[in-house]
Amino acid sequence: MANKDPVKVGVLYSQTGVTSAIESSQRLGTLLAIEEINDAGGVDGREIVAIEYDPASDPYQFRNLAERLVAIDNVSVIFGCYMSSTRKAVTPIVEKYNRILFYATLYEGFEFSNNIIYTGAAPNQNSVQLADLMMSMFGGRVYLVGSDYIYPYESNRIMSDLVHQRPGGSVVAQRYVPLSAGPQEFDGIVAEIKDMQPDFIFSTVVGDATQHLYRAYSEAGLESRKMPIASLTTSEVEIAQMGASVAAGHFTAAPYFTSIDSAENQRVLQRFVDRFGTDIKPNACWEAAYFQVHLFANAMQGAGTDSVPALMPEILGSEFVAPQGRIRVDPVNHHTHLYPRIGRVNSKGEFSIVRASKSAVAPDPYLVTHSLGDWTLALETLQD
Ligand code: ACM
Repeated sequence: MANKDPVKVGVLYSQTGVTSAIESSQRLGTLLAIEEINDAGGVDGREIVAIEYDPASDPYQFRNLAERLVAIDNVSVIFGCYMSSTRKAVTPIVEKYNRILFYATLYEGFEFSNNIIYTGAAPNQNSVQLADLMMSMFGGRVYLVGSDYIYPYESNRIMSDLVHQRPGGSVVAQRYVPLSAGPQEFDGIVAEIKDMQPDFIFSTVVGDATQHLYRAYSEAGLESRKMPIASLTTSEVEIAQMGASVAAGHFTAAPYFTSIDSAENQRVLQRFVDRFGTDIKPNACWEAAYFQVHLFANAMQGAGTDSVPALMPEILGSEFVAPQGRIRVDPVNHHTHLYPRIGRVNSKGEFSIVRASKSAVAPDPYLVTHSLGDWTLALETLQD
């Protein structure tokens, strides 16, 4: 008789700590997809059951809870992690036990694990396009500010490489704040920005501290119209935390914004609001968290099991019609073909999409090709 036992999956997104707001959205994107799959009869009649823990935005807890999920709860697959420090903490666990981590967050690239599927943007799918747009609209002198951990260091290194490719491109300063930074930590930074007058600011600040940077910037009278902040990590969630008037005029590059005008996006957003309300804002990390569960379920359908040796070949090369468009998992580097987009926050606190790729861009996590012009041919200007 066919196995009709429920299938347990691990869900590891922080509900407390500095990145709990964005990770709570990833958690709900995951649960939304699990419900959709179960409402449609599960995978071959098997219900998907989430085993969840709260790793509290802390790499050590991520590692310990990942080990608990695989060694005690015996899950094959974990959906989780936001900060790169937490992914790096979980990687040795999924490698040791031969399980799969689905990672739904943009990150710095330069990584490969046989046991990870990367569904967020690599630098060639967000940083390259953002550098090109910011330099052509505002100029090449950039001020870098980030949280104090691996993603900001590496992402800033890539941004520095990109701006130096163009004549006049330079980094005027590079500053880091603690992950727990409060409003006062940004006073000196904003004073320095005022003094140095860069052409734009690149923020790799993450989590709750993000709102303090943008608020300090606005309170100092700096104008997003003339000298905006550009980011990969300031999503609809952080904008809700800071408020529309503080966020207006700033830029973010991501494969997904809630403002995407497609039938599939509208359907998923409506289902999300019906089920979970409007407190938690959908965003690019939410969308990847959502579609990667469907990638898993479709692969399991094909494999007939959640055993990793059978599942992985089904995941690699698979495609899915996601809210951002049809995405595909690259069978060689385990990253995902995604649609680069750039949004500028409007007065309602929503992203107006100012540039969008006409087609999915292949992931190039090692930036084998990373000249500024490489991807711009695929970009369509929607409005300036
Ligand atoms: C990140 O740490 N990958 C945002």
